[in-house]
Amino acid sequence: MNIEQLRADTPGVAHLVHFNNAGAALMPEPVIEAVTNHLQQEARLGGYEAAGQQAAALDNVYNAIGRLINAQPDEIAVIENATRAWDMAFYSLPLRPGDVVLTSTTEYAGNYIPYLQLKKLRGIELRIIPNDEHGQVSLPALKTLLEDERVALVSLPVIATNGGPVQPIEQIGALARAAGVLFLLDACQGVGQMPIDVKRIGCHMLAATSRKYLRGPRGMGFLYVEKALCQNLEPVFLDLHAASLQTPDTFSLRGDAKRFENWECNVAAKLGLGAAVDYALAQGIEPMWQRIQHLASHLRERLAMIPAVTLQDQGTLQSGIVTFTHRHGSATQVQHWLAGQAKRINVSTSTFRSTMLDMQQRDLLEVSRASVHAYNTEAEIDTLAAALTHLPRA
Ligand SMILES: Cc1ncc(COP(=O)(O)O)c(C=O)c1O
Repeated sequence: MNIEQLRADTPGVAHLVHFNNAGAALMPEPVIEAVTNHLQQEARLGGYEAAGQQAAALDNVYNAIGRLINAQPDEIAVIENATRAWDMAFYSLPLRPGDVVLTSTTEYAGNYIPYLQLKKLRGIELRIIPNDEHGQVSLPALKTLLEDERVALVSLPVIATNGGPVQPIEQIGALARAAGVLFLLDACQGVGQMPIDVKRIGCHMLAATSRKYLRGPRGMGFLYVEKALCQNLEPVFLDLHAASLQTPDTFSLRGDAKRFENWECNVAAKLGLGAAVDYALAQGIEPMWQRIQHLASHLRERLAMIPAVTLQDQGTLQSGIVTFTHRHGSATQVQHWLAGQAKRINVSTSTFRSTMLDMQQRDLLEVSRASVHAYNTEAEIDTLAAALTHLPRA
């Protein structure tokens, strides 16, 4: 990869050392231009008129996402964030009392809370797939759980918000398919970071966001729904974009995955998402994944050399999200200390509230999260490691 070009495309790197790519990555110029140009056009022409001029670029958003995840454009819905995209899939499933949902210990609270809500409202049952000795979903345990005919859904994140293993999603997908069970994949931290191919994974639905490893603008995301399922799935919410009135008493749903969208949306951000996907595809997802893994292992090696730091990552395959605790202070203190005093190093804090089961199992309240992207450098990692070596005791 041409790292100099990647950095030249990324104005933010001139001011900061940004290791919060799992929160929101720095946008590259083509994304910033797509968003700001469109806002200028809206101001000059009017919002509807500006969107009308961008019809081809707006269509391209679906084509680009389709290329990114190996789906058809009509299997994609553009939705304002990963959570709402995931909700549109999950709440639309015809889950009945006694139906079982299987998830991982690494599930994100934003998805876990809806499981609890449908447990309360519809009487579904939630079961947690045990982990293997590496802290990732145990495939034999999943196979056994899938023998229960009441299992209706497998739903989990490929990479958790607090790092951890990259789940063996192709094997999980194969087991779910073999059992005739739907598979909803939260690829929020995976898309843009690693190759995600819905055909290879065999997932029926996938939710993702724009602002993280894809480097798109905030307030954007998308949902994939496999065509055969989409046509049989009635979205939990409808509007006049998802459906159309046929008579005063009847309506018909649209045939494609846009039935999960709503009409009004942030057009500038949608164009920004398209530009982000085009940019990621132009860099090449596989080389980006190699570079992210290389940088993450360099960071883990550097952190392992600091006596006060304990690495907290698990799994046989690890991602660009590096987590650790520091004996000299809480993760919140680490975050503030690194951001302040002209150091301008961004890391974030993951607390037990976003991945409660996993954090409880590992007896952790919070961890520091340093998430690397391809545009980061070894020198930036050394800067972070040097700062953490000198962290004063709180
Ligand atoms: C694993 C995972 N799933 C879902 C989400 C929610 O994404 P969004 O904030 O775009 O709704 C996040 C956000 O941090 C996440 O890390």
